[in-house]
Amino acid sequence: MGQKPTVVVGRKLPEAVETRLERDYEPRLNPTDKVYSSDELITLCQGADAILPCHTEHLSAAVIARLPVSIKAICNFSVGVDHVDLKAAKARGIVVTNTPDVLSDATAETAMLLMLGAARRAAEGERMMRRGEWKDWSPSFMVGIGVTGKRLGIIGMGRVGHVFAERARGFRMEIHYYNRRRLDPTLEHGARYHATVEALLPYCQFLSIHCPATSETRGLLNAERLRLLPKGAVVVNTARGAIVDDEALIAALTSGHVAAAGLDVFNNEPTFHPGFRDLWNTFLLPHVGSATHETRDAMGFRALDNLDAIFAGRAPRDRVA
Ligand code: DGY
Repeated sequence: MGQKPTVVVGRKLPEAVETRLERDYEPRLNPTDKVYSSDELITLCQGADAILPCHTEHLSAAVIARLPVSIKAICNFSVGVDHVDLKAAKARGIVVTNTPDVLSDATAETAMLLMLGAARRAAEGERMMRRGEWKDWSPSFMVGIGVTGKRLGIIGMGRVGHVFAERARGFRMEIHYYNRRRLDPTLEHGARYHATVEALLPYCQFLSIHCPATSETRGLLNAERLRLLPKGAVVVNTARGAIVDDEALIAALTSGHVAAAGLDVFNNEPTFHPGFRDLWNTFLLPHVGSATHETRDAMGFRALDNLDAIFAGRAPRDRVA
C-alpha cells in the first residue's frame, strides 16, 4: 500500500473520527482547537493532499488561490458550504464535499427548541430564575404565544425543512412553504406551496428558515419582507445568519411587529450584532444546531466517507463542486 494521504484538519474532531483519520490518513490534527488564520491554514496545507474544514475555516477565492497544487479535495465537516468559494475550488480542480442528511434531525430539534423557547419566553424566564428575580405568579405573568395549531412557514423545504415540518405536525401546525422547486405532492403531506417568499410570508404566524446561504438568499429576510409577516409573528433561524438582515430584524423585534425570534446562527459569528442581546424577546443559541454527540460523529464519518471515495478514485457521495 502506498503512502497515506495527508489531511489538514480544521478543528478538533470527535475522538472516534480522529481515530479513524489516524488509521487511514496522515492527519494534521488541531488538538488545541484553535481557529486558524488564512495564513496558518495555507502554511499547514503545504505538502498536504486534502483539507477537512468546518464552517469556521474561510476558504475564499483568495485563500484557494494560495493553496498548494497538492490539495485535491476539501471535504467539509458541515452541510453548509458558504465558507468555501465553490467556483474558485472548481476552477482549480479541487473536489468539494459536504455532510448532508446526518444533521437534519439535530438541527430540526434545535429549530423546535428555538420556536418553543421564543414563543414561550424561555430565555426571559430562565434569566429571571437564575437572578433570583421570580417574585410572584399571576394570570398575566409571562404570558407567551401558543404554538399548537398555528400556521408555520418554512423557507427551504430541503432535508432539515422537511424534518422540521414533520415535527411541527406533532403540534398540529398548518405547514406552508417556499422552495425553489415545489415538492412532489406525495412528499408535501398536506403542506401548502407558495411560489415566492413574498406569497408565503403573510401566512406565517411562525417562520423558520432552512435554506442555504447563497448569493440569492443573502439578506433575504429584509425590512420589506419582514413587513409582509402578520403582526406578532415569531422568526426562527437555524440555517445561516447571512440570510437575515440584522438591522431589519432588530427593528421589527423592537417595534413588536415580530413578537420574538429564536436564533442559532448569526452574521459575523461569534461576534454577533449586540442588538439581539439587548432585546428581551430573543432566544439565542451559539450555533449548536448539529451539536449532539451522535450527529457530530456522523458528520465526521460522512466527511471521511467522502475523503475515502476521492482517494480510492471513486465519486464521493456528497460532491458539491
Ligand atoms: C453545518 O453543518 O452547516 C452546521 O451549521 C455546522 O457547520
